Amino acid sequence: MNLRQVKKATLPVLEALGMKGAAIAVKSRYDQFKNRYVHNNNDIFYTLSPNILPAIAMSFEILEADSPALLETGAYYEFGVFKGFSTWFAEAVSRNKTASAFRFYGFDSFEGLPDTSVDRNPWWLPGNYAASYESVMSSIKSHGGDVERIILVKGFYSADLFEGFRRTHSIRPPAIVVIDSDIYESANLVLDFFGEYFVPGTILLFDDYNVFDKSDAHGERRALKDFESKNPSFAKRHLFDFGWHGAAYVVAHGITP
Ligand SMILES: C[S@@+](CC[C@H](N)C(=O)[O-])C[C@H]1O[C@@H](n2cnc3c(N)ncnc32)[C@H](O)[C@@H]1O
Repeated sequence: MNLRQVKKATLPVLEALGMKGAAIAVKSRYDQFKNRYVHNNNDIFYTLSPNILPAIAMSFEILEADSPALLETGAYYEFGVFKGFSTWFAEAVSRNKTASAFRFYGFDSFEGLPDTSVDRNPWWLPGNYAASYESVMSSIKSHGGDVERIILVKGFYSADLFEGFRRTHSIRPPAIVVIDSDIYESANLVLDFFGEYFVPGTILLFDDYNVFDKSDAHGERRALKDFESKNPSFAKRHLFDFGWHGAAYVVAHGITP
């Protein structure tokens, strides 16, 4: 199946889950508002990035074919959870592909974006995209998400937050890493800490890779460039783009020799 076919197949999946339209219609309605904080703390369960849903579904298909061991003992890591819709979707869409030991980790401040000195723009104002931890957990539960397997980690990204996570969880090999935390500084912290766990076959989904006219000086693209120059043994292969903004890669070689 190619990405186009998976994209076509994703809407019936959302329909079967009782969520048709939620991913797309609500977001486009909200995007018409000038006040960007309109996404904050409303009661609706939706994703800001409908295009990431088929990308997630496609990634599980690729893992099933090429790296099935990662679906046994590995994990899905998402940085930038917002409402939890994409985390919920990942768990729901992969139930027949992942073992019971597989986990879904979502990391977010649940207070919106931090400030950035690199990527200032009207969409990424500090505090934008806030959804409380309690409301996200409650939406995931009420839409049938398996909360035994979905673990949300609250806090602004930092070495301390990630160290705390490492102490309390055995870090499972990443099967899929979604970086949807928008700004350079956030992606940089994630790659610096979790990059050492990437293994051949890990799929990296960068939701904002192609924003800023694909400039290497900004955002997730700059963070990945920095990571690659710090870790020359790391090698990746381009898998596909999703929407106008996202890019998917598979790790060909980790950072350890
Ligand atoms: C664009 S939203 C995520 C969208 C979500 N994946 C979806 O599909 O709707 C970006 C999220 O990243 C989180 N975020 C960004 N940088 C962060 C940081 N440094 N620490 C904690 N959370 C961060 C924000 O709180 C926000 O919820």
